[in-house]
Amino acid sequence: MDLKNKVAYITGGSKGIGYGVAERLIAAGLKVAISGRTLETVQKAAQGLGSEENVLALQSDVTKHGNEEAAIRSILNRWGHLDVVLANAGVGHFAPVDEMSEEQWHQMINTNLNGVFHTLKASVEALKATKGYYMTLASLAGTNFFASGAGYNATKFGVVGFTQAAMLDLRKYDIKVSTIMPGSVATHFNGNEPDQKDAWKIQPEDIGELVLDLLKMHPRTLPSKVEVRPSRPDKK
Ligand SMILES: NC(=O)c1ccc[n+]([C@@H]2O[C@H](COP(=O)([O-])OP(=O)(O)OC[C@H]3O[C@@H](n4cnc5c(N)ncnc54)[C@H](OP(=O)(O)O)[C@@H]3O)[C@@H](O)[C@H]2O)c1
Repeated sequence: MDLKNKVAYITGGSKGIGYGVAERLIAAGLKVAISGRTLETVQKAAQGLGSEENVLALQSDVTKHGNEEAAIRSILNRWGHLDVVLANAGVGHFAPVDEMSEEQWHQMINTNLNGVFHTLKASVEALKATKGYYMTLASLAGTNFFASGAGYNATKFGVVGFTQAAMLDLRKYDIKVSTIMPGSVATHFNGNEPDQKDAWKIQPEDIGELVLDLLKMHPRTLPSKVEVRPSRPDKK
């Protein structure tokens, strides 16, 4: 893909991985729309990324399909086309299954799993028009289960299955579909404050480089499921 002036949409771009990917895509010449649940927060993040010419801040709660439809409409109104979508927004609550609240369960399912469907459903016709790229941000928790991860594992195993099946449905339109499955990334996830203790982790901009690598891949080749982990795990 020739990246100059291509348009990308990143859900959950106000911080963490989404923000790091946005930084890298903008540096590579793309125009990028980022979203989050609160407009003010997203606008503040967008100011750190670029100018009105290449960044668009959008309020959209991915648990609401109508919000995602409105976000895509805003992008098409602003730039006329959409080439890359990264369904990244996600939350995690970790507790033994007998202690997990219904509220935590539903927030994870509605954000991590229903959200990626809402984002795809709202953007798929625009991606057909550009022969674009749809990516999900899953996790190694989408293939490795662990204690206290029942809810989060359920969503991320679901995202991996969803994305692989969607890839089979959409490649006939020349839409590429991939899922990225990181291990630990230094972000605000689950209340973390990223600092020196997180130096061993993957950094958000590293995921940005990975997204760029996928976008630059020859059209005939599709890494549909990408596992990525810290090369030197924490020595506790
Ligand atoms: N950090 C890790 O180690 C790691 C590893 C593997 C996978 N992941 C996945 O990576 C993705 C990004 O997480 P992160 O680590 O970057 O966490 P983060 O720093 O907490 O960022 C999460 C982002 O998701 C947004 N968000 C949450 N709920 C949303 C909703 N309902 N609608 C729209 N946006 C929403 C947040 O925006 P607002 O708060 O502004 O709404 C924020 O921009 C998640 O899917 C997570 O599961 C993370």
